[in-house]
Amino acid sequence: MTDIIRQIEQAAREAGDIIRSAHGRELHIENKEGHANFVTMYDKKVQDFLTERLGEILPGAKFLGEENGLDVFRPGDEEGWLFVIDPIDGTTNFIHNMHPYVTSIGLMKDGVPYAGVVYAPVTDQMFSAERGMGAYENGHRIHSSKASLEDSVMLSGSAGFSDTAFEIAQKVTADFRGRCQGVRSTGSAEYNLCMTASGRSGGYYEMRLGLWDYAAGGLILEEAGGRITDYYGRPLPWRGPSGILALSEGTARDTNLPDTGSYMDQWDQVI
Ligand code: IPD
Ligand code: CA
Ligand code: CA
Repeated sequence: MTDIIRQIEQAAREAGDIIRSAHGRELHIENKEGHANFVTMYDKKVQDFLTERLGEILPGAKFLGEENGLDVFRPGDEEGWLFVIDPIDGTTNFIHNMHPYVTSIGLMKDGVPYAGVVYAPVTDQMFSAERGMGAYENGHRIHSSKASLEDSVMLSGSAGFSDTAFEIAQKVTADFRGRCQGVRSTGSAEYNLCMTASGRSGGYYEMRLGLWDYAAGGLILEEAGGRITDYYGRPLPWRGPSGILALSEGTARDTNLPDTGSYMDQWDQVI
């Protein structure tokens, strides 16, 4: 493990302290665009804290984050260091005091993932990876599962941003459900990716995620032997919103996977 990742992990732990300090306090919840899309004072506070703290680790690095107007991949972001932050992934869970919710920090170098850290403060789980150096949970090497789809549990996201997307997402889930041991929803995209990376789940799919929802966990999954693509199975450009199909080593090899691309076609027809 290099010094950079150790320092990013430490920053994520400190972010976890801020999140834990919210317990029992007023969260100052605001509504953002779309259905049940919330932000609290703590989302903003943690992002501000991380922007400052991570800037000390890599001076000159750029930032992309879900909150505070930093949510767009800008020209020039594909050059040099770029931190991609989701201060609290699983804000709705956080508001309801329901695990999981995590702090997620991706680090890109010249437009491709270089490192990823996902920290779950409630359970004190630290997931991390550096390109080419494997993936870890609390310091122990992790590997995605070799089980087939029919022997796996899958994870999904609700695509709550639009009624039509939600309806199509339900069809994808029905399609997966019949081919595996069940589909679960945790409410945190990055946690789902880490559950797949650590061999607990056979995979995770969601019709649209922001870069901050998958930048860290996507690399952790790849380094754990899994695969992350869009719904058509194409490599991710790692630039912005995308449908995400994340698979373990075993389910990626499975010939009985649903044709997720056909559902994305249905979605494309309505937008
Ligand atoms: C959300 C969570 C959720 C996923 C949504 C994301 P947020 O992130 O990851 O699991 O289904 O698509 O937007 O808003 O809690 O950071
Ligand atoms: Ca998120
Ligand atoms: Ca968030």
